Amino acid sequence: MAATLRHTVHSTLPADDTHPYRTGPWRPNVNEWDADHLEVEGELPTDLSGVYLRNTENPVHPSIGRYHPFDGDGMLHSIAFHDGIAGYRNRFVRTDGFLAEQEAAEALWTGMLDLPEHSKREDGWGARGRMKDASSTDVVVHNGQALTSFWQCGDLYALDPVTLEQPGKAAWAADFPSPTGISAHPKLDERTGELLVFGYGKEWPYLHLGIVSADGVLERSMEVELPGPRLPHDMAFTEHYAVLNDLPLFWDPDLLAQGIHLPRFFPDVPSRFAIVRRDGTGEVRWFEADPTYVLHWINAYEDGDEVVLDGFFQHDPSPRKREATDTHPHMASVYRYLDLSQLQARPHRWRFNLVTGETREEPLSDRIMEFGMINGQVAGRPHRYSYDMTGAPGWFLFDGLVKHDLHTGREERYAFGEGVFGSETPFAPRVGATAEDDGYLVTFTTDMGRDCSECLVFDATDITSGPIARVRLPERISSGTHSCWTPSSALPPT
Ligand SMILES: [Fe+2]
Repeated sequence: MAATLRHTVHSTLPADDTHPYRTGPWRPNVNEWDADHLEVEGELPTDLSGVYLRNTENPVHPSIGRYHPFDGDGMLHSIAFHDGIAGYRNRFVRTDGFLAEQEAAEALWTGMLDLPEHSKREDGWGARGRMKDASSTDVVVHNGQALTSFWQCGDLYALDPVTLEQPGKAAWAADFPSPTGISAHPKLDERTGELLVFGYGKEWPYLHLGIVSADGVLERSMEVELPGPRLPHDMAFTEHYAVLNDLPLFWDPDLLAQGIHLPRFFPDVPSRFAIVRRDGTGEVRWFEADPTYVLHWINAYEDGDEVVLDGFFQHDPSPRKREATDTHPHMASVYRYLDLSQLQARPHRWRFNLVTGETREEPLSDRIMEFGMINGQVAGRPHRYSYDMTGAPGWFLFDGLVKHDLHTGREERYAFGEGVFGSETPFAPRVGATAEDDGYLVTFTTDMGRDCSECLVFDATDITSGPIARVRLPERISSGTHSCWTPSSALPPT
């Protein structure tokens, strides 16, 4: 492996840091690498062609007040495959906030666990306001550019998906009318090349939907009026519709009136779903369902008169505080919302009947899991398989990967092993594939026992046999949140 250290970003974090989400598998990276012809254990298939991108939260300064991992600066990791060869790059996303804090050599904005008025700067981003847009949550490739995004809304930063060069921001986003910008989880329709985006905030109408053409023009935007400020995290789409949500976990309105942004679950308030025509015609259709909170949807599609939506139903969106421990006193409190086993997130299906207005819903599995991925070529259309992550109890870490066959209910699981944590694992179609699961699964690991990171490649038709190839990265990388796969056919020419 020829690895070249391109740059080391200055960090002011203490060497003896003890924060549970800035140490161990969440130890931030500061080095930016270029590495070509990575060492491979096993054999990389020559019909695996494209790039796997993963965004991670990498703080470089002590926070003002308490740190939450969703506050960390975005660092994008890219591994590109062609002809059985793999090359890797990683770069901080040089957001406006990151650059300002590099210049100041300290944090300038408070994170989600502290008050906006404690920020050192009056300006800022996010639905809350006076936050840093860290662009560290999600990544999608659209119109040949990787676009990173932030869970509390902000700008979309553009990077070359392979070289990670950073030309700036998605220009069309300046026309999007949401005052907070665009949320994490823009959705790509691979069949049309369109990107569907949403943005939410504290100002009426509280939610906006946007449709962006394959060549990067904001074709239309639509207002989706909500009863008040809400915290939608993800959206879904079908061939003709966008599916947005108004779920009963949002900033407590009484506290919000005092300037306090405290999310609260309202168990007596129904979940509501908005079904909006992508072509901009017709009214917003609303459907009600059992109260819950859902971080991520798996897919949606049309089935006769119904819109079908799969996602992860949280059976306990507001888990009780656990006993505090001496080593990590905050793990029992605020960080319990990061623990899938506490939230009891399980696959679930909603069916919205466009003729009768009725909702039906049913569980799809007893297993606690989240972060589901599908073959992107069937996004918005009926899917058979999802690839979901299981969580390490007590932590925001993934200890295993599940292939879930929705037709048979069969679940196959691969466990990463003791002290090894995977990342969100997308499906990479085999070049020339015809079947939905004819391809590969690609993930990064953080291996605490061996103090290294690898990219694992699985045959998606047989995950229980373990990876068919392991690719060693230049150094151990921090855990993070979202990822995506982009086939070579959707990458810019080199
Ligand atoms: Fe997310």
